[in-house]
Amino acid sequence: MKRTPEEHAARFDEVAPEYDADKSDEYRACVSLVVEHAVPGPDDVVLDLGCGTGAIALALAGDAREVVGRDISEGMMEEARRKADEAGLENLSFKYGSFREPDYDGEVDVVVSNFAMHHLADDEKREAIRIIGELGPRRFVLGDVMFFGEPDPDEPFYDPEVDDPATVGVLADALTDAGFALVAVEMVHEQVGVLVAERAG
Ligand SMILES: C[S@@+](CC[C@H](N)C(=O)[O-])C[C@H]1O[C@@H](n2cnc3c(N)ncnc32)[C@H](O)[C@@H]1O
Repeated sequence: MKRTPEEHAARFDEVAPEYDADKSDEYRACVSLVVEHAVPGPDDVVLDLGCGTGAIALALAGDAREVVGRDISEGMMEEARRKADEAGLENLSFKYGSFREPDYDGEVDVVVSNFAMHHLADDEKREAIRIIGELGPRRFVLGDVMFFGEPDPDEPFYDPEVDDPATVGVLADALTDAGFALVAVEMVHEQVGVLVAERAG
């Protein structure tokens, strides 16, 4: 991790009010794919880790029984709560929680995470994915900055000062070690993708 969780939280608190403006096509495509692959049923509980301003959580709320958002930035979650209120959605909640300590011990059917895990170092991503596996979801959909090949140093899709994306191989290994089978891989850009994992066996 190139910044502490507190530093990341402060950075996102600051940009939260403008976060939703001017998102890239790749980010939007990633959101759509995560939503498309999550497919919660009406009885399902969805956990969104690194939920930010709720792009994924809000999009899934209409299909799920309940959506639980966790993030380390109160500013980002304040935006998410405001948007949920404006949309009249009542089956959503947002509370402080990190990848390492999601602070959630209820049932969970589907875990989603979009554009958040690349803030962790690779060993921390492995640990986060292990913790997600232990929560027992049947599906985990991870959209993020990730490397399908050697990233072009002249056109990084990420900020090398603060971001620490993994290769798809590292993520796939971590998923299988955590008891998931990788069932779909969507490449949005050579540095952005969506991995869909389901509980193996
Ligand atoms: C680029 S935003 C993405 C937000 C949202 N998922 C989306 O798709 O728009 C990254 C989010 O990850 C959160 N984050 C960073 N490190 C985290 C950690 N260790 N645990 C939980 N959330 C974290 C940040 O606070 C921020 O809200």
